[in-house]
Amino acid sequence: MNMTEERKRPTDRASWEQRYIDGELPWDSGKPDLNLSRVLEDHGIRPSGKALEIGCGTGTNSIYLAERGFEVTAMDLSSTAIAKAEAKAAAGCKCRFLVGDFLVNDLQGAPFKLAYDRGCLHVFDDAKERERFASRIADLLDPEGMWHSLIGSTDGPPRNAGPPRRSAMEIISAVEPHFEILELRSTNFDQGPHSQARAWALVARRRIFYPA
Ligand SMILES: C[S@@+](CC[C@H](N)C(=O)[O-])C[C@H]1O[C@@H](n2cnc3c(N)ncnc32)[C@H](O)[C@@H]1O
Repeated sequence: MNMTEERKRPTDRASWEQRYIDGELPWDSGKPDLNLSRVLEDHGIRPSGKALEIGCGTGTNSIYLAERGFEVTAMDLSSTAIAKAEAKAAAGCKCRFLVGDFLVNDLQGAPFKLAYDRGCLHVFDDAKERERFASRIADLLDPEGMWHSLIGSTDGPPRNAGPPRRSAMEIISAVEPHFEILELRSTNFDQGPHSQARAWALVARRRIFYPA
């Protein structure tokens, strides 16, 4: 990604908010991500209990998880995104949408059985913030809770737009201290204008620390 594109990428609350106000949302396909249903199936994650989505945007995948049977808490930095998510959720939908910064703000409702993010971990350029993101998720999960993340990949041809790119090593450094990595699979963002962009599907289980 060249420097012009780098500057265009939203990195703070105001820029994310502006993207949602302007409707500049290439990641927002309006359809549940197929990687999510595949992961639930492959890892035998039964659709019941509490799930958390971080960086939920306009809530498509949160609503999908609630329709499958989870009781969902979903957070996003952008109040405009959360207002759109609330408007999309049908009456009776078991989704609680919250505006907040996941790295900073308290989040009620733990422990969760499942954490999910589609393109939120990968927005953090700073390795310490990625590690904090993973550590916060671990703290909010059941002892053997699971996390599925979809992350832009450094693989694939050069491109001047699209999701941020993270290497497998960057992901492992952030995640492995807190999680047992069950899967790190090369895939694609399945929908939208950047559907050809390579992605990583991470599936990880919170670590149990045994006494020495
Ligand atoms: C690439 S978008 C993906 C949105 C949604 N998951 C989707 O697939 O449509 C990343 C989202 O993460 C949110 N975000 C970025 N930093 C965040 C933070 N620190 N806490 C909570 N949400 C954050 C942004 O507002 C944005 O909605």
